[in-house]
Amino acid sequence: MARNDRYAHIVGWGMYVPEYRRTNEEIARMVDTTDEWIMTRTGIRERRIAAEGESTATMAIRASEAALEVASIAPEELDLIIVASATPEYLFPATACLVQDDLGADRAGAFDLSAACSGFIYGLSMASQAIQTGAIDKALVIGSETLSRFVDWEDRKTCILFGDGAGAVVLAGRNERGGVLSCTMRSDGSGGDLLSVPAGGARYPASVETLADNQHTIKMNGREVFRFATRVMADASRVVTEKAGLTLDDVALVVPHQANSRIIQTAARRLKLPDEKVYVNLDRYGNTSSASIPIALCEALAEGRIQPGDNLILVGFGAGLTWAAAAVQWAAPWPVTPQPRQQRLARRARRSFARIRSAWRRVRRRIWGMLRWLQRKGEEQID
Ligand code: UT7
Repeated sequence: MARNDRYAHIVGWGMYVPEYRRTNEEIARMVDTTDEWIMTRTGIRERRIAAEGESTATMAIRASEAALEVASIAPEELDLIIVASATPEYLFPATACLVQDDLGADRAGAFDLSAACSGFIYGLSMASQAIQTGAIDKALVIGSETLSRFVDWEDRKTCILFGDGAGAVVLAGRNERGGVLSCTMRSDGSGGDLLSVPAGGARYPASVETLADNQHTIKMNGREVFRFATRVMADASRVVTEKAGLTLDDVALVVPHQANSRIIQTAARRLKLPDEKVYVNLDRYGNTSSASIPIALCEALAEGRIQPGDNLILVGFGAGLTWAAAAVQWAAPWPVTPQPRQQRLARRARRSFARIRSAWRRVRRRIWGMLRWLQRKGEEQID
């Protein structure tokens, strides 16, 4: 049953990006392009590339740790973990389960969400609705991507765009108005072929042929995606603004999916919003797909661009095709007071304990397997 007095507030946020910066100059040494072309056509200057030991799950965990610390919430209090990703750790198990295990979020359900660059807002929408109905109380929503492992580094039309990183928010139920006020989620599967990684799924499982044809990397019709994006960004923003009972004049900041500065500018013009009301950080990270909005949100907060009481629009689009937006009233206190030392130590101890517990569960499963095997052997010998 819907509880109209319950709102999903964003009470924690965190991000993680790999150390390594791949500049336009470096890409210009790999393919036929220039820094000037990339800057003028996309607005991107550099992107982060995951190191060997880093991947979608490890970055998701780092961003989640930061978000939980801001929220002062223990992992055991979480009811739900959603990882939005177009580049999950495996086909299965879900990356969200790896995050759940590493954090020690013992009470949480966990699943991955595949809606490409709109994934984070889809996740925010699902989790906030579950909180509003009273079905759950606390959720962790993460966008995490290791796109560099799916980019064709010989294709100048795509390799200039993408980067790696993760962002996360903690949502908690409260009875005062605020947090996620409205959401919209849309899709148009007829445009699925405009942006895809064709092989590696059930349709074209990995084979010598798919590898030889280079079908495991990102294929994109950039112009068509561009056209679609400029149309839906403004529409979706208007929908959630109205649904929340606001007008665009009430909006303090739009945090859009960071794909291309020209897409963002066109959307802003259509909404008649001045540049200072639209947050852009894609020059430093490129397009990090589902991670781009939570990373941008974290940086906008760190730069003091968001104050308590501000109305925000989060809006994204991506492969599928999918698009989504959310109107959020910022209610979390800012700046965040750092956790006292004792609390930080307790948190670290809890994490260590969660890892030991997880290792013990694996060992226990093996021992049980061996005992059952021995028992069967014994029974066979008696027979
Ligand atoms: O999260 C969603 C992910 N995807 C997107 O958001 C992508 C949306 N699309 C875009 O951002 C833009 O379409 C791109 C940045 C990908 C391309 O920009 P564009 O202005 O649409 O260029 P274009 O594809 O129309 O290509 C124009 C020319 C072509 O040459 P010709 O055919 O006119 O001779 C391309 O071959 O630019 C050429 N080109 C390049 N030249 C130098 C394409 N990529 C490059 C490059 N460097 N990296």
